[in-house]
Amino acid sequence: MAAVVAPPAIDVRGLAHRYPSPDGDGLVALDGIGLTVGAGEFVSLVGPSGCGKTTLLRAVGGLLQPEHGEVLVLGGTAAAARRAHSIGLVAQDPGLLPWRSVEDNVALTLQLTGDDGDRGERARGALERVGLGEFAAYRPRELSGGMRQRVALARALVHEPQLLLMDEPFGALDELSREDLCVELLRVWERERVSVLFVTHSIREAVLLSDRVVVMSAAPGRVVADISIALPRPRDPRADDSPEFNAYVHEIRMALGRVPAEAHS
Ligand SMILES: Nc1ncnc2c1ncn2[C@@H]1O[C@H](COP(=O)(O)OP(=O)(O)O)[C@@H](O)[C@H]1O
Ligand SMILES: [Mg+2]
Repeated sequence: MAAVVAPPAIDVRGLAHRYPSPDGDGLVALDGIGLTVGAGEFVSLVGPSGCGKTTLLRAVGGLLQPEHGEVLVLGGTAAAARRAHSIGLVAQDPGLLPWRSVEDNVALTLQLTGDDGDRGERARGALERVGLGEFAAYRPRELSGGMRQRVALARALVHEPQLLLMDEPFGALDELSREDLCVELLRVWERERVSVLFVTHSIREAVLLSDRVVVMSAAPGRVVADISIALPRPRDPRADDSPEFNAYVHEIRMALGRVPAEAHS
């Protein structure tokens, strides 16, 4: 019998989107984007600020109806995947309610979506999965920035999503917290076999985490490179100075048009 092949987590074709602009011409944010993320794959998206990364994520997350193109998520529409709670979203700002405990912040998302059986137990389970089991009763202000971002990850995981969309989730953290969060995220991904589309400004972070790194051009955003990262797993952020690792960093910098200064002389 033929094996059942899971549909790609994301299959985007010919995606273009324009926002209204004051001059009436519209601002072209995305122009002819194609992108796939296979089931269980970890794909990072890098590109200059304003090139449309967040717009692309919003289209995949079913939060924005693009002007042109096709967006398939888990084999159906993005809106359907969103309604089925198959998509978990993590943004740069964890957006936690300060007066609620960490557990209640995670449980709130279950309450709001009406999918709220065993709310407390599921919230505590999600916190345990990101290493915060002992902090369920804490308020957000009692946690570090890195721990707050873990709470945001727990909140995204509590619905057992098949796809995680992460928009510069570690962008506001110091370097050591970022490293810890990368290790934690890799653990979650390896254990739960969730598919991930991860937006980052950090080229090294993209190489460390990903199966593939997709590079976008400056606005209007287009895909200019799609680079497979054939480094062995499990990966360790403390071992990221191998020649192979640095060759990928260099390749991505070149795709971004960031040629090292010495190349000009
Ligand atoms: N809601 C909006 N209305 C109008 N323009 C927007 C809106 N959101 C984003 N843009 C514009 O679209 C372009 C792409 O934005 P964005 O997707 O946020 O890029 P990135 O995440 O790569 O920085 C930018 O020029 C931005 O100013
Ligand atoms: Mg953005």
